[in-house]
Amino acid sequence: MFEILKREEMADGTVVMNEINAPQIAKKAKPGQFVILKANEQGERIPLTMADTNVKKGTVTVIYQVVGKSTALFKSLQVGDHYQDVIGPLGQPTHLEKLGNVVCVGGGTGVAVLYPITRGLKELGNNVAAIIGARTKDLLILEDKMKAASHELHVCTDDGSYGHHGFVTDVLKDILERDNVDLVVGIGPVPMMKFVTKLTADYHVKTLVSLNAIMVDGTGMCGCCRVSVGGKTRFACVDGPEFDGHQVDFDELAQRLDAYKNEEKRAHEKYTHECKLSQEA
Ligand code: NAD
Ligand code: FES
Repeated sequence: MFEILKREEMADGTVVMNEINAPQIAKKAKPGQFVILKANEQGERIPLTMADTNVKKGTVTVIYQVVGKSTALFKSLQVGDHYQDVIGPLGQPTHLEKLGNVVCVGGGTGVAVLYPITRGLKELGNNVAAIIGARTKDLLILEDKMKAASHELHVCTDDGSYGHHGFVTDVLKDILERDNVDLVVGIGPVPMMKFVTKLTADYHVKTLVSLNAIMVDGTGMCGCCRVSVGGKTRFACVDGPEFDGHQVDFDELAQRLDAYKNEEKRAHEKYTHECKLSQEA
């Protein structure tokens, strides 16, 4: 059992941070790796890339968006409650190295995944520009942490309520025009990663993306997380989650992520209805 030691709601309660007691995982985990969590015996296995780890405290931090039944169940867990299972660290860590000028681009909750990578790249002596975006000001997360983890931070909102009015790709284009960029890391919704890589391809800049494929076992056995990279089938859980963005088939990934949308919607509605009934009883 893995106790929740700290809990915070962000982005109007649509995003939740949990600091979880998991010393063995904290000792081994590296930026870019993920854990699989299960709330209870019958719970669904949910993969989440770690937003932080603390070896001294023996904790791992995950930040998730509440999108369906399982994340709604996670949200109901409070400080002192336990996840039944936290498995990890899983996946390949980010290959962090000193390259020169690096741009880290994050959209929505993808910023949580981007944060430890941004910090690691800065610690290695890279000159790091960061761009984070959200639909509106209230949905932005980790602005202060991303500011500290980079040399310059650009904030974008789709509705212009804060920072640059527009997408993260607008600001990325300006930076690609201004600087000789050695690496771009783009993490967020699939359309964002697709358009980040389209843009960087024009400037011939290496681009890493983190793929949030559907996963079951997380150890390369079920094939659920398969993605096409450079025309080859790869498993996001063991070969990734990070890949060369210029090689990824984003349209296939988007299609596979949509495969269970109706079932996910029905399960979430049923769960919300049952919660309401138990509150009324
Ligand atoms: P969102 O749709 O609100 O987009 C966030 C930002 O991404 C936007 O503000 C914009 O700047 C940029 N963006 C979106 N579409 C774009 C486009 N077509 N072109 C250029 N930029 C674009 O994001 P959200 O709903 O807060 O994020 C949730 C999504 O992020 C979910 O789909 C989730 O699965 C995904 N996610 C991915 C990872 C990962 O590891 N890749 C991690 C966490 C969440
Ligand atoms: Fe099963 Fe990757 S999650 S093979």
